[in-house]
Amino acid sequence: MPVVINGVAVELPPDPRVSLLDLLREGLALTGTKKGCDQGGCGACTVLADGERILSCLALAVAYDGRRITTVEGLSAGDELHPLQQQFIDHDGFQCGYCTPGQLCSAIGMAAEAGRGVPCAVSTDITDEKIVLTDDEIRERMSGNLCRCGAHNGIISAIAATYAEPPR
Ligand code: FES
Ligand code: FES
Repeated sequence: MPVVINGVAVELPPDPRVSLLDLLREGLALTGTKKGCDQGGCGACTVLADGERILSCLALAVAYDGRRITTVEGLSAGDELHPLQQQFIDHDGFQCGYCTPGQLCSAIGMAAEAGRGVPCAVSTDITDEKIVLTDDEIRERMSGNLCRCGAHNGIISAIAATYAEPPR
């Protein structure tokens, strides 16, 4: 079975050592997903696998046989940006933009986790079926995505404007 990337079925590489990140960037020219550290420390390579955020630098492509991968290139609907992408623009959620694809994919996966009631270190009630995304919740949940430009305040604001309840 192939892997489905942004809705397109793609054959897996014959070399089982190829990371999902290298398949995306080198094999498919989907260079929106960025290589920062290549060792799981920065979050720049975050993509969605069946809606869950993963670090593609630590993922072997062959392990995603039959899965649906979404990269930053797959977030918009034609010319229409994903709402979170628009909020990143509106809230100055980036400077150089290198971390942004990973931030976007991570935030989308993060919001889904909170929606399923998955707690994090700052959650006050781990029995909640749905976590309200306060700034503290967002900061903690997004702590694996680094921004060397220091655009974190704008990033958090953009995510809160999209996913916090009530939105701000
Ligand atoms: S490139 Fe994957 S976590 Fe840094
Ligand atoms: S915007 Fe430059 S690293 Fe985040």
